[in-house]
Amino acid sequence: MEKMSEKGFTIWFTGLSGAGKTTISKMVSEKLRERGRKVELLDGDIVRRNLSKGLGFSKEDRDINIRRIGFVCHLLSKNGVVAIAAAISPYESVRQENRKLISDYVEVHARCPIDVLKERDAKGLYKKALAGEIQNFTGVSDPYESPENPDVVCDSDKESPEESAAKVIIKLEELGYIESEKTASGYTKEEEEKVNERLKALGYL
Ligand code: ADX
Repeated sequence: MEKMSEKGFTIWFTGLSGAGKTTISKMVSEKLRERGRKVELLDGDIVRRNLSKGLGFSKEDRDINIRRIGFVCHLLSKNGVVAIAAAISPYESVRQENRKLISDYVEVHARCPIDVLKERDAKGLYKKALAGEIQNFTGVSDPYESPENPDVVCDSDKESPEESAAKVIIKLEELGYIESEKTASGYTKEEEEKVNERLKALGYL
């Protein structure tokens, strides 16, 4: 019998460009590594420079990209690794395909209103897309289908990245993918972190 602590699984982050997928997924990776897990992070921006080099942003190319990432996640997960994908993955049907292929699959929606993203525009891509310099830009001139049944929703306009990452960890504990580590207070580290971050956001800390 495989020990529970060695069971691989996939965490799939979906969401618009700039909604926090990379930031939150890196934090979650770090937290899992601290717990001794082997983690591999497949980030859309990086995958597109190697595994998916040459693919564009048509529906067909995006679906190929997402299937490739899904296939790698499947291989890693079944060998005890925690595979984390962070790609826009705008289409529900191909996300569902991956969910079926990778039985141990946890979906996280990094959610943020488009107006906030246009305002933030860390990479300057929304400005270009709105000016028509980039075609088929997700959320501007290309569709994004919100996930129907995400396991976790991270509202990055309301939560800090720390709070979002803590929510993901708590969900993994609830689902039994990782063991919960209670501190002396009786809460887990992430439960405490989540509460503290919430209090900070409300101005109490
Ligand atoms: S996906 O749709 O196939 O899942 P992926 O996450 O790999 O997309 O890549 C998205 C990244 O590519 C964005 O964060 C952005 O930096 C860049 N990009 C370039 N052109 C586009 C576009 N037309 N739509 C969305 N993202 C784009």
